[in-house]
Amino acid sequence: MGEYILRTKNLSKKYGVVYAIENINVEIKQGQIYGLIGLNGAGKSTFMRAVTGLISLTSGEVELFGKSGVKALRYGRERIGQSIETPAVYPNMTAGQNLEIQRKIGKVTDKNIIKGILELVGLGDTEKKKVKDFSLGMRQRLALAIALITKPEFLILDEPVNGLDPVGIIEIRELIRRLAKEQGLTFLVSSHLLDELAQVATHYGIIDKGRLVKQISQEELSYESRQYIKIITDNTGKTISLIKKTLGIPKLKKPQKMNCTYMVIRKRPGK
Ligand SMILES: Nc1ncnc2c1ncn2[C@@H]1O[C@H](COP(=O)(O)OP(=O)(O)O)[C@@H](O)[C@H]1O
Ligand SMILES: [Mg+2]
Repeated sequence: MGEYILRTKNLSKKYGVVYAIENINVEIKQGQIYGLIGLNGAGKSTFMRAVTGLISLTSGEVELFGKSGVKALRYGRERIGQSIETPAVYPNMTAGQNLEIQRKIGKVTDKNIIKGILELVGLGDTEKKKVKDFSLGMRQRLALAIALITKPEFLILDEPVNGLDPVGIIEIRELIRRLAKEQGLTFLVSSHLLDELAQVATHYGIIDKGRLVKQISQEELSYESRQYIKIITDNTGKTISLIKKTLGIPKLKKPQKMNCTYMVIRKRPGK
């Protein structure tokens, strides 16, 4: 399914003698929302900086849109929008005026793009409001708007919901979901809390002390975190009929793991 948007091979970055990230292998396909989860200092920002070329690599390789090599990477990085480095926003200007500046910096010729992006991120009604009077949620949405100005195919967002209240978190999540669905954008989004991204990410990479400890899809995650009841018995048949009778479950699935003294009955997530 789909083409690879990003593949890293043993990506490492060392500061002095200490690895900030070590041998990271990440694979992201077109249309995925990839949540990079890890505690503060785990290496999320370093990984994102290495992918976007904001820092040099110590070793390893980055492949973007199926291609690696200096020239292909330069071209690939032009197709990325990012919010890793906070863009210089002018607090005394409106969101629209700030976007106009970013449009010029990004050499985007379509002047009409700004209105659409402001609408898209939910800042369409802030025409006169200066950025200095924005809430944190509005600022995060402005950062997203700036990342979108060059019409990227791949968005890399570093902790876009950090510090937001629950309503702000939902707004950003909805926006990411909509952009992925309606515009087919691919996302790499970091957070130090799994909860914040759990509902929007389609895939997860768990990073700890600079190492990718797990890469897992949403389906695999919910399967692994499903609930089950463990029953130890010396008579499986009798136990099953007892459960059927006392709990009124007519169709009890055969336990997945069974021998004469041990059985596990799994509950599907949400059941
Ligand atoms: N410019 C730098 N110089 C030295 N150490 C750094 C630098 N940037 C990051 N680090 C270190 O690399 C590790 C990973 O940091 P970072 O990528 O910022 O983590 P995260 O974004 O997950 O909080 C931390 O131990 C941090 O102190
Ligand atoms: Mg960080």
